Amino acid sequence: MSVRGRFITFEGIDGAGKSSQIAATVDLLRARGLTVVQSREPGGTPLAEKLRSIVLADPMHLETEALLMFAARREHLALVIEPALARGDWVVCDRFTDATYAYQVGGRGLGDDKFRALEQWVHPHLQPDLTLLFDVPPALAAERLANGRAETDRFEREQRDFFERVRAAYLQRAAGSAGRILVVDASRPIGTVTAEVLAGVGRLLDLAA
Ligand code: TYD
Repeated sequence: MSVRGRFITFEGIDGAGKSSQIAATVDLLRARGLTVVQSREPGGTPLAEKLRSIVLADPMHLETEALLMFAARREHLALVIEPALARGDWVVCDRFTDATYAYQVGGRGLGDDKFRALEQWVHPHLQPDLTLLFDVPPALAAERLANGRAETDRFEREQRDFFERVRAAYLQRAAGSAGRILVVDASRPIGTVTAEVLAGVGRLLDLAA
């Protein structure tokens, strides 16, 4: 009988510094001999990547935005995440449904009832086994973004108060997550953050052993 794999997601406001932590996590898991599927949302399949380019570029009604996030997610779950977990692979994903809660409910003001209905519809029985939430003050994240890249998307161009709401919604979701979401203070030096991330992933590895 094959054992179900584990599902790890990474979250935080734009500029929180997820990318290098994702790479360190994938390296750790592979070093332990696990097969790792690394992906991202919105995206992860050809169709979901097309939806990503639309949703990151074109202005739209906030409910359209939420529906497209969940449409991309349904596709990603069906083609990538669910088969990988069923094979026993570990899935490491840059963002998942907590991002919809933070950005569309917290940032944009989508109704909580609508969010819950979509979450129930698209993945009624699945939540990540572990979510690393990188928490930073929006001012610091904005500084990191300004240093990091030339082009920005529709979300990255939002104002400070938008990211304050996104951050607050992430922390609220973490508080109600019964330990699934590990909040990591990502304003500290990168090595300190990596050590905390790998310790959290290590605990999941021990539980899965
Ligand atoms: P991000 O993951 O930050 O990728 P990159 O590092 O390439 O910019 O970008 C994805 C953006 O999409 C990010 O601003 C958050 C947003 N987003 C939502 O608003 N809702 C969602 O459900 C997801 C998955 C992402």
